[in-house]
Amino acid sequence: MTTLVLITGGAGFIGTHTARLLVARGWRVRVLDNLCPQVHGPAAEPPDDLPAEVEFIRGDVTDRNAVRAALDGASAVLHLAALTGVTQSMHELESYANTNVTGTACIWDVIAGDRIRLDQFVLASTRAVYGEGAYQCPCQNLILHPHPRSPDQLRRGQWDPLCTACGSPMTPVPTSEDIPPSALSVYALTKVFQEQLCRQMADLTGTPLVTLRYFNVYGPNQALRNPYTGIAPVFCTQLMQGHPASLFEDGLATRDFIHVRDVATANWLALNYRGTRPGVFNIGSGCPTTIEDLARVIGLALGVPHRVEHTGRYRVGDIRSCYADTARAAKELGFKAGIGLNAGVCDLVAWVSGQALPRGAFESATADLAERGLIRVVAPIDG
Ligand SMILES: NC(=O)c1ccc[n+]([C@@H]2O[C@H](COP(=O)([O-])OP(=O)(O)OC[C@H]3O[C@@H](n4cnc5c(N)ncnc54)[C@H](O)[C@@H]3O)[C@@H](O)[C@H]2O)c1
Ligand SMILES: [Zn+2]
Repeated sequence: MTTLVLITGGAGFIGTHTARLLVARGWRVRVLDNLCPQVHGPAAEPPDDLPAEVEFIRGDVTDRNAVRAALDGASAVLHLAALTGVTQSMHELESYANTNVTGTACIWDVIAGDRIRLDQFVLASTRAVYGEGAYQCPCQNLILHPHPRSPDQLRRGQWDPLCTACGSPMTPVPTSEDIPPSALSVYALTKVFQEQLCRQMADLTGTPLVTLRYFNVYGPNQALRNPYTGIAPVFCTQLMQGHPASLFEDGLATRDFIHVRDVATANWLALNYRGTRPGVFNIGSGCPTTIEDLARVIGLALGVPHRVEHTGRYRVGDIRSCYADTARAAKELGFKAGIGLNAGVCDLVAWVSGQALPRGAFESATADLAERGLIRVVAPIDG
């Protein structure tokens, strides 16, 4: 019989790409999504990008009846539904806890309570569970996992994490799955909670579990309307509207950008994974890219190179660097990112060029976060 997979949050960015891939590979797909207005706009309809074969249920992951209906007959779950804004989570604690924590608990309540046997449960987690990535300092032959940068250090504009032994700035190295979680935001905390809850309930119910820690996902269909997530569409919007791409810190913070179609492939591999124990995998490209370089690549693709603005600001809770150690995903899951940044950005830009762009959404979100003290101005002590 054809596998029926339930994708929670399947109307979103990663969900629509994954649904398309699964349908193309002959799976039956059901989506449970509440079409959250911040992502889909007011009075939204299910997105056109969902193939016609997908069964769509409009409902909330915290609504037990909706979850029960969505799980009926499913043999696999890909749990994507979540609120995803790191900085926004610092002032909307209850909504983040409700969707991400209570929603995940509700799904497991139904699986366990109704004794639903699943062949696979795949959880969409994030590199945010690591906090800062891994580093090295020449003075020690160790992989180090630094504490968050102190408020004082950030205020003075000293961006790199400092070695506790010699005080020098350290060098980022690939971050492996074995680093203990160190959540620096409410969003990350909810994701750590999801991971641990899924692990416990998978053990208890005998459900095979795979946890995927996506790095920074970008590509077509990324919510242009949601100013709280995804720096690539923000830069596209700013540059296309004739503004420079605005950079926090010195623009040299690094991230690991992975194209959404690669993530859909990773989800497919995870749904088919038959390891003997729960798998936890980094889903990244393994390549660090500075935020300024990302802005340059997008500017080049749009024909407006070198348009960046250093804002002299930083975001509370941001990390400096994190990129994936991809060895375990390659060896055990058979996953390797296939779309490089230049090709992936061209793909993104081609899509964004055909979209109606929001006016001022990022700027008003930034003003709001500054008002709340979550975006701050650098004030070097020595002037
Ligand atoms: N995009 C990234 O860079 C990234 C990185 C790491 C992890 N993730 C994780 O991947 C998953 C998907 O992210 P995305 O980028 O596709 O986000 P998205 O916002 O595009 O999609 C999330 C979907 O969940 C739905 N949703 C929100 N609250 C819901 C609720 N209470 N009930 C039902 N549906 C609800 C939204 O309507 C949306 O369609 C999330 O769990 C996110 O934490 C994303
Ligand atoms: Zn040192």
